[in-house]
Amino acid sequence: MTPKTFKIKSFGCQMNVYDGERIAELLSDRGLAAAGDGEEADLVVLNTCHIREKAAEKAYSDVGRLKREDGSRPLIALAGCVAQAEGAEAKSRSPMIDMVVGPQAYHRLPEMLEQVSRGARPVDTDMPAISKFDALPARRRANPSAFLTVQEGCDKFCTYCVVPYTRGAEISRPTGDILAEACLLAEAGAREVVLLGQNVNAWEHEGKGLADLIREVAKIDGLERIRYTTSHPADMSDALIAAHGEIDNLMPYLHLPVQSGSDRVLKAMNRSHTTESYLLTIEKMRAARPDVAISGDFIVGFPGETEEDFEATLKIVEDVRYASAYSFKYSARPGTPAAVMEDQIPREVMDDRLARLQARIAETQLAFNRSTVGLDTQILIERPGRRAGQMIGRSPWLQSVHVDTDAAPGTLLDITFTAAGPNSMTGAIRQKDAA
Ligand code: 5AD
Ligand code: SF4
Repeated sequence: MTPKTFKIKSFGCQMNVYDGERIAELLSDRGLAAAGDGEEADLVVLNTCHIREKAAEKAYSDVGRLKREDGSRPLIALAGCVAQAEGAEAKSRSPMIDMVVGPQAYHRLPEMLEQVSRGARPVDTDMPAISKFDALPARRRANPSAFLTVQEGCDKFCTYCVVPYTRGAEISRPTGDILAEACLLAEAGAREVVLLGQNVNAWEHEGKGLADLIREVAKIDGLERIRYTTSHPADMSDALIAAHGEIDNLMPYLHLPVQSGSDRVLKAMNRSHTTESYLLTIEKMRAARPDVAISGDFIVGFPGETEEDFEATLKIVEDVRYASAYSFKYSARPGTPAAVMEDQIPREVMDDRLARLQARIAETQLAFNRSTVGLDTQILIERPGRRAGQMIGRSPWLQSVHVDTDAAPGTLLDITFTAAGPNSMTGAIRQKDAA
């Protein structure tokens, strides 16, 4: 069967969301149409994530669920990081999978579809020297806030992490390609661009670093806001920190995962930063841009983590006063050094620590949100809210903001924060002075 319609389901990080958008453009370019909501598609692409065990298991149960009541099923492409990690193995784990394509090879999906039509079950987990970016069609659609991958892969080898294996070695896209794509996104309606990379602040090209790149992107007509994620603490250069005080379009927000507040655990994680160096970076950021919102990632229950180590993590939440943070239970990933470390932490201990950490994070998050009530600011409208007449936008500090307005997505709206919740804000349109 030659598929006429497709559906893409992306899981995991923003880079996967970006890849999902590019796969959609690629398939559209080849004459396939996106299936509407609730409609069945001839081809389903599961763009998977391998970062934690649950995420990988989910991929296989999602495959199973694609079987229809009448016993038929769509063509199924397993894409993303589970595909990269499992390779041909995925085909034996699930006979429903027709093709397996890794994150650096998805530009070859059209050829793979042809192979499938001839009865093959192709697997492509190469990391080809010719970049997928050169083989993808130009951008034609963009959300008000658009993702743009500028860097991929990781050379850091944190002992818990699969990314160096699923996404490969660090590569930076050339400046010219990034600026060209950013211009197309702006023309297609993006008002904000989020520069993406597994280690985005390690981006470099011809002696230039991320701060230089941001300066160039900031000059593009129509782009009012720039963000970047995810940064590694060891690569936060003084130039990038200074840029936050110098470039108006660069949003006052930094996602800087710390993972643990214990130096002993950080060392075992091979994080190449200490709590002291991390806190110093935050201090410098706040000196450059006093209102910056700090966000982070945490892992609880890394092998050997003691109650004392964990309490040090609670303390760093207090010290940094995170505006938001994500926290996860450690998940042993096959092939990573931490998976074979002694002293794996029992599930109940992890559950207890995660609950305590999340309660602490919720406090600092709410405190941050409350501290902004009464401020006049601008939000970027992204989508309709749950109630009629309500829209949801993003503040410079990445808070979700509910406002009563009929302003269309992509509008930058002047508002005043009127109320704070744990996970979102309420705003009211600011009346312009009559004069
Ligand atoms: N177990 C739990 N969390 C993990 N992360 C990465 N690898 C693991 C793992 N093996 C978390 C880290 C990272 C985020 C994207 O996912 O906190 O910053
Ligand atoms: Fe998941 Fe990491 Fe792959 Fe993103 S790069 S999809 S977080 S495994």
